[in-house]
Amino acid sequence: MFITFEGGEGSGKTTVASLVFERLKNENYDIILTREPGGVKIAEQIRNIILDKENTSLDDRSEALLFAASRRQHLVEKVWPALKENKIVLCDRYIDSSLAYQGGGKHLGVEEVLNVNLFATENTLPDLTILFDLEPKVGLERINKNKNREVNRLDLESLKFYDDVRNTFLDLSKRYKERYVVIDASKPLDEVVLEAYTIIKNKLDGLY
Ligand code: TMP
Repeated sequence: MFITFEGGEGSGKTTVASLVFERLKNENYDIILTREPGGVKIAEQIRNIILDKENTSLDDRSEALLFAASRRQHLVEKVWPALKENKIVLCDRYIDSSLAYQGGGKHLGVEEVLNVNLFATENTLPDLTILFDLEPKVGLERINKNKNREVNRLDLESLKFYDDVRNTFLDLSKRYKERYVVIDASKPLDEVVLEAYTIIKNKLDGLY
């Protein structure tokens, strides 16, 4: 079972992922929590190039290709072996982030970015994707409150960019209805955690 969490900046998905992961682990599910690049050295090196604030000349298509390369390395070294061992893999961001950020936000086109990513992943799509939907303005206010967080190159985008990202995620949720569930991430954290946990439990129990 391959489960991905997606959403814009400040949607809380990373916090929710770790809380839901702990709860499922305590219930003895054989589950790993990862995120791209997920502690895979080569993938991390690629990510550093992408997020480096100094790399202002990084071309948008190069960026999309680097994300796809990093994604593949993470699959090869971590996700595929875990899935092969029948583990549940909970991954913070995956292919849909590229479709939304590079395809929608950077206007490279969802289909083009999808093609590159299907090549990179050999058509590995998640069984379940939870989208933590939030108005970008609210999300950005949340992360700006957290002064300890390091600003990366992609944080420097405009609000219009984040609106495009959000709308692309919402379009994807309609396109891939069979694997998508959307959560309103403006709700209190405990409610969002319970909702995400319940969705995953139902999926694991084969309820949908
Ligand atoms: P993070 O919020 O999970 O730390 O991700 C770092 C940034 O990278 C975030 O702004 C989203 C962006 N991103 C993309 O633009 N495309 C991708 O494919 C992925 C995985 C992340």
